[in-house]
Amino acid sequence: MCVSKVGRLVVLVSGSGTNLQALLDASADPSYGARVVAVGADREGIEGLVRASKAGIPTFVEKVGDYATRTEWDVAIAARISAYEPDLVVSAGFMKILGKPTLQAFPLLNTHPALLPSFPGAHGVRDALAHGVKVTGCTVMLADEGVDTGPIVAQEAVPVLPDDDEAVLHERIKTVERRLLVEIVGRMAREGWTVSGRSVRIGNHTGGEST
Ligand code: GRF
Repeated sequence: MCVSKVGRLVVLVSGSGTNLQALLDASADPSYGARVVAVGADREGIEGLVRASKAGIPTFVEKVGDYATRTEWDVAIAARISAYEPDLVVSAGFMKILGKPTLQAFPLLNTHPALLPSFPGAHGVRDALAHGVKVTGCTVMLADEGVDTGPIVAQEAVPVLPDDDEAVLHERIKTVERRLLVEIVGRMAREGWTVSGRSVRIGNHTGGEST
């Protein structure tokens, strides 16, 4: 798979949208190389949508419950995303697995608050704490049809401290996660990237073929 540069970002959110905000802030500088052209969500009434509106970015909401089948939702959200012609879709705290209609049309970047392949799924922070690990972290990866199973783009470690609860640890991780996500999206935008099997390489993009 050979992918060139990113300019247009569609960001998907389900919650507070602090990762979205970090991308919005970074892309205010034209030299960042990418800009958020739309924000999508799977629910209404979330801070992430408010952040988008405040920034003057168009939004859309597609709720799974509004469709008879998950497949219909997959097709509907892919169509909404497609309308904004993104170069990259960023799942930034979006709590749904996207299906083939989106995955086959666009590269999809995801962020997760644990060091994959440890602690995938919706409770990565809670599961790491319950396991008693001393180091956890965050992972930025390309999404596939699995739960946090796609090729890893970047990771960064975060210490677990003795008195951490889930909220405290998650906030420490998110501070790192936001910086890493902004850095990786910006580098992908400016330098291009290639994927070969499970190996993702940013930069040194020759425009040649890869698998
Ligand atoms: C992030 O830690 C993300 O990895 C996880 O949920 C959190 C979303 O935070 N899936 P926010 O909505 O960007 O503030």
